[in-house]
Amino acid sequence: MKRTAIIYILSIFLFSNSFAQSLKPLYENPSAPIEKRVEDLLKRMTLSEKLEQMTQRVIGQNNNASNAELDKRNYSPLTGSFINFSNNPGFANEIQRKAMKESRLGIPVLLGMDVIHGFRTIFPIPLAQGCTWNPDLTKKSCEIAAKEATLSGIKWTFSPMIDVARDPRWGRVAEAYGEDTYSNSQFSVAAVKGYQGEKLSDKYSISACLKHYIGYSLSEGGRDYHASDVSPLTLWETFMPPYKAGVEAGAQTLMSAFNDITGVPASANYFTLTEVLKNKWKHDGFVVSDWKAVYQLIDQGFASDSADAGAKAVNAGVEMDMNDEIYVKYLPEKIKQKEVQMSRIDDAVRRILRVKFRLGLFDNPYVDDIAEASRYLQPESQKLAEKCAEESMVLLKNEKTVLPLSDKIKKIAVIGPIAKDQVNVMGSWTCNGKSENTIGLFDGLQKEYKNKAEITYTKGCDFEGTDESDFANALNIAAQSDVIILCLGEKRGWSGENASRASIALPEIQEKLAAKLKEAGKPIVLVLSNGRPLELTRLEPLADAILEIWQPGNFGGNPFAGIISGRLNPSGRLDITFPKVTGQIPMYYNMRPNARSSMKDWNGLYQDVKNDPMFWFGHGLSYSNFVYYDLKTSKTTFTENETISIEVKIKNSTNVDGQETVFWYVSDPVASITQPMKKLKYFEKKEIKAGQESTFIFRIDPKRDLSFVDGTGKSILEKGKFFIEVNSQKLAIELK
Ligand code: BGC
Repeated sequence: MKRTAIIYILSIFLFSNSFAQSLKPLYENPSAPIEKRVEDLLKRMTLSEKLEQMTQRVIGQNNNASNAELDKRNYSPLTGSFINFSNNPGFANEIQRKAMKESRLGIPVLLGMDVIHGFRTIFPIPLAQGCTWNPDLTKKSCEIAAKEATLSGIKWTFSPMIDVARDPRWGRVAEAYGEDTYSNSQFSVAAVKGYQGEKLSDKYSISACLKHYIGYSLSEGGRDYHASDVSPLTLWETFMPPYKAGVEAGAQTLMSAFNDITGVPASANYFTLTEVLKNKWKHDGFVVSDWKAVYQLIDQGFASDSADAGAKAVNAGVEMDMNDEIYVKYLPEKIKQKEVQMSRIDDAVRRILRVKFRLGLFDNPYVDDIAEASRYLQPESQKLAEKCAEESMVLLKNEKTVLPLSDKIKKIAVIGPIAKDQVNVMGSWTCNGKSENTIGLFDGLQKEYKNKAEITYTKGCDFEGTDESDFANALNIAAQSDVIILCLGEKRGWSGENASRASIALPEIQEKLAAKLKEAGKPIVLVLSNGRPLELTRLEPLADAILEIWQPGNFGGNPFAGIISGRLNPSGRLDITFPKVTGQIPMYYNMRPNARSSMKDWNGLYQDVKNDPMFWFGHGLSYSNFVYYDLKTSKTTFTENETISIEVKIKNSTNVDGQETVFWYVSDPVASITQPMKKLKYFEKKEIKAGQESTFIFRIDPKRDLSFVDGTGKSILEKGKFFIEVNSQKLAIELK
């Protein structure tokens, strides 16, 4: 009896629920398939509702709560997306409520932000992360960034940037993972997976955005926003692979770049945006323009006015217009004139809605409003940030094993503008990061050497300027100590967007300080914090050891001090080449051979400087010594359908545990399209305990690893000899 009653009540409940559901439009039914929901919603929308979805505006420009409040009142509830500078979940919920309740169809808004290397917990800049050769750390840091972002209502980040770096004068080299195509691809995948999680609809997942599609890093002379001449071969060989990898990893969105691609701006480029991205790679998410990039088509001489710019961008394949309101204002007239087809608008809106549905925004639009203390900077986040910083630091020089500092050292002089800095070490694009959370270098050393050594400090000089008034004091402190830790570097505004520099040397005042301190006759450990490779020609001879710490974020101080003391063993390797002088740029490891490369003499190419750089890509020292031996292949000759294995043994010949990154390069000495001198095809980082050896294996799939592309993106595999290089060892193999 009781059972029958329960069944009866339950079925009434279920029936009434499904009855209520059936009264609702299909797109509001969480259990209907996403594509059906998208189509159902699309067919209910008016043109202006569609164009609003294709519009992104900015809210809370200066993160001032009352401005944000004003913005919220002013903007249409139909707006497709906001860049939201607030980190307040309550505010995010209000914006969302306005979109859901005050718009006719209740379409949620997508709140985006530049979460580049962390949201509140600031990790090392991406250029530094590339030096870890540990994409898993990047994946995990992106997971943490995504969690902190979602807890503030942000569901979309404009990251990762995967523009292969070619010119360190360009400030944005700080934002990607170095000069190599393959490693940018690996980090691209790691970042996408970290941000987007297992499922996009998960509570803490956010959508990634691959940027800046494409060729932006070739901006002429490193000048930001300038034109770039990207040949079809360079486009396919160097720039496309990280984007393809990111798309295959599921990146929901891409950002179209400011530059042009040999005459056709990237934000109006039908070939890259539609033929490649949508037709060839089948990307079904959407493309957002970079900031006012649609409007800038006029400046670039590609569009006559805003309406023309809007039509050209949307027709080429840009679905969302960032912050210039061109689509919403001008596309109606272009549609009337039949210059833009409704089918293109529908396709664009479909893509945007699809991403919103996938993110679960229709079904769970609001975020839990929890206290800041539980949202940010959790102990495990700090731990990971420290690990990332540790593995990204690169020991560039270590003469007479100055590092790690010996136990005999009892007086340490810490000098330089970076030593107590908490702001600049965070790097550019710090989102909601706060400098008061930074553990600086001096803090780290004090903790590390508590009761072990006396630490004295003076700034010595500022980042720039001509004030030498602290030089004498600095020299005095230096002269009274056993070692000088000289902390020099760049301000954070010297790299990042719109932060190009004609010279990549540090300002003269910092070089002068180093020269002055040399007079003390004490060992100098030069510590560098910067967002690009530096010209070190004058500084390098003054230093006994050089530790590149990049811009390590909030938590570089402890790992830095650990490396100085030897508690930690440095394992970072450069992901970008340091030229000797600015005039050598461009300089990267996988250049093509020059016409006289057989003469083996690098002299003569410049009269005033040898043509090798200060530090090559891949360079980095360790406190361990790794001996490579016994490089061998499973087969010397093989056919294209065979996989072969190449292995090398590496012994840690010291009594210090350490991590080694093995870089596997392929070179193709004769090809119908000349090939770079060598190409990185695989890397692996592993710990090798003191005195132990380990075998590293590279499995070669000829089609993947020995082929090259032509200027149409076609992959070509040619028979013949190849060389596999690992460290200084080389082995020949032959494809029959
Ligand atoms: C930058 C992008 C950034 C966007 C939004 C642009 O100026 O080029 O990288 O994502 O602004 O802040």
